[in-house]
Amino acid sequence: MSRTVPRVLVTGAMGQIGSELTLALRERYGHDNVVATDLRTPSGPLAETGPSDVLDVTDMNSIAEIIRKYRIDTVYHLAAILSATGEKNPAMCWRVNMEGSLNVLNLAVELKLGTVIIPSSIAVFGPETPRVATPQETVLKPRTMYGVTKVCGELLGEYYVRRFGADVRGLRYPGIISSETPPGGGTTDFAVEIFYKAVQEGSYTCFVKEDTSLPMMYMPDCIKATIDLAEADFRKLKHHSDFNVGALSFTAGELATEIRKHMPDFRVVYEPDFRQAIADSWPSSIDDSAAREEWGWKPAWDLSSMTADMLSRLSARFGRV
Ligand code: NAD
Ligand code: SER
Repeated sequence: MSRTVPRVLVTGAMGQIGSELTLALRERYGHDNVVATDLRTPSGPLAETGPSDVLDVTDMNSIAEIIRKYRIDTVYHLAAILSATGEKNPAMCWRVNMEGSLNVLNLAVELKLGTVIIPSSIAVFGPETPRVATPQETVLKPRTMYGVTKVCGELLGEYYVRRFGADVRGLRYPGIISSETPPGGGTTDFAVEIFYKAVQEGSYTCFVKEDTSLPMMYMPDCIKATIDLAEADFRKLKHHSDFNVGALSFTAGELATEIRKHMPDFRVVYEPDFRQAIADSWPSSIDDSAAREEWGWKPAWDLSSMTADMLSRLSARFGRV
């Protein structure tokens, strides 16, 4: 690694992505250089393998205190309220997602920080957006409060780059599939729950229809994409806060069929709830040529390798039914 070792703050580190990304960042930059924070008290490997603290991202003074205390120069701002929880409490979703991002961006300028990563999401898209191979530049008219905050977050990031010369970067993650920490209240959660239920109970009641097709990504690719973007040469980026990143695209039924290749008796019933409308408003696949051209994005995992790995990890932890 030729660049100076960063001093990293991770917000929302107890979440699905933060819990694994933080450990990967510690492996890469040194355990003492990566501070895990969350509204919930960090516990387990996050608390055991490096510095950690409680931090509410809606409180700008507390963020500034942590940045000074740990001499932070790089922020991975992961604290957020996701789509399904956001529809149950839109006001909280707006407050956490917008105040949190604005606080981090203002401190990036005031305290002259280096790189700030603020993830975006496929939730920025809406029903008017082309659903197949969704382009980088396209209609952004989301139907969820979560999506509204993600569009605003992208625009704010771009504004802080141009207005203040801040180094802000972000990716539109698809649904993230992982085996370590359960997802935190999103619409794509079914693609993780299905694995836990397959291994623990042998059956699953899926909250979207069988033919619901969405873009997804396995956690190792998510971590790689995030760190690759963070380490890319900023001067070579034409986009900043809104990179489309694709990896996998499949229907709920195709995922169940793939699981059945390993567990022939696995049963799924489909009982769509309010999350179906959210899923229907999102793309089914993503054109990520800008990320591939500007910072070399290339996913490594496909549906078959991801499914085999998820089942093997969860079976090792829970045993098979
Ligand atoms: P998550 O819900 O699993 O975790 C979010 C964390 O933020 C939680 O640990 C929660 O305790 C914490 N948090 C909530 N309010 C807070 C506050 N006021 N102050 C500090 N912490 C607070 O989310 P995730 O899946 O890990 O998502 C991380 C980022 O990636 C978010 O910006 C999310 O929008 C984005 N993203 C995630 C996915 C996905 O499928 N997981 C997809 C697209 C985008
Ligand atoms: N996985 C996220 C959600 O469903 C997408 O941003 O909310």
